[in-house]
Amino acid sequence: MGGHTHLIVFVSMFAAITLISEAQYILPIFKHEPSKQYYTLIYIGSATTSSPVNLLLDLGTNLTWLNCRNIKSLSSLRLVTCESSTCKSISGNGCDGKICLYREPSPFLLTNHTVTKTDRVVQDKATIFSTENGIPPSLVSFRPFTFSCAVQKNLQGIAPPISGVIGLSSGELPFWRQVTSAFNVIPKFALCLPSSRVGTFYMGATSSYDTPVFGGKNPVPMKISNLPHVNLR
Ligand SMILES: *[C@@H]1O[C@H](CO)[C@@H](O)[C@H](O)[C@H]1NC(C)=O
Ligand SMILES: *[C@@H]1O[C@H](CO)[C@@H](O)[C@H](O)[C@H]1NC(C)=O
Repeated sequence: MGGHTHLIVFVSMFAAITLISEAQYILPIFKHEPSKQYYTLIYIGSATTSSPVNLLLDLGTNLTWLNCRNIKSLSSLRLVTCESSTCKSISGNGCDGKICLYREPSPFLLTNHTVTKTDRVVQDKATIFSTENGIPPSLVSFRPFTFSCAVQKNLQGIAPPISGVIGLSSGELPFWRQVTSAFNVIPKFALCLPSSRVGTFYMGATSSYDTPVFGGKNPVPMKISNLPHVNLR
């Protein structure tokens, strides 16, 4: 009887692993000229009213932050409370009454973190792309996506089409970790930065990434072996 139960548990675990292992979660990467800033695009908000938001890629930022005025509808935006485990997992968090605050560093002042601004931590729905076994990318959403709402002043130095910074650090709540945990895939990511046209930000998947996925009729030529691969586990 006990052996039988173990077998079923083993088979269902194996089935679950097989089902998730090939899915990769992807975003386009653009290069802004002449600033040479690399940024990606995600959608924030509920499906019918979601807004595209351009975010600067930054490996040193723990939590994504952006000017929330770029989100058209705030109807699905929620404040994070100070007592929540989410707030407690944010390094250097603060509180404004019951509201959780994030101390955001400027991505351009990595040696001077005294130039910071604290802003409210919020959650909403985020929409990105997913693909598996080379099928064309489709939209997938997850919530909660935790980030912080900054004011326009904090965007000083960031190129105009970009309205925030996407956190890609190895901390608790970087964007890639929120995605891989929401979809229950291996917590890793890779950035294929474009010299021109469109590159790809990959999350999850197994040992390699399907390419190319963005770029329309003129796909970006890429070799897996040349990808700057960052595996943080
Ligand atoms: C960091 O920035 C603050 C505020 O602008 C300034 O007062 C301080 O001198 C700077 N520190 C260094 C080491 O540059
Ligand atoms: C990011 O989080 C780590 C802990 O996970 C912390 O040591 C570091 O100071 C944080 N960085 C900034 C810029 O807040």
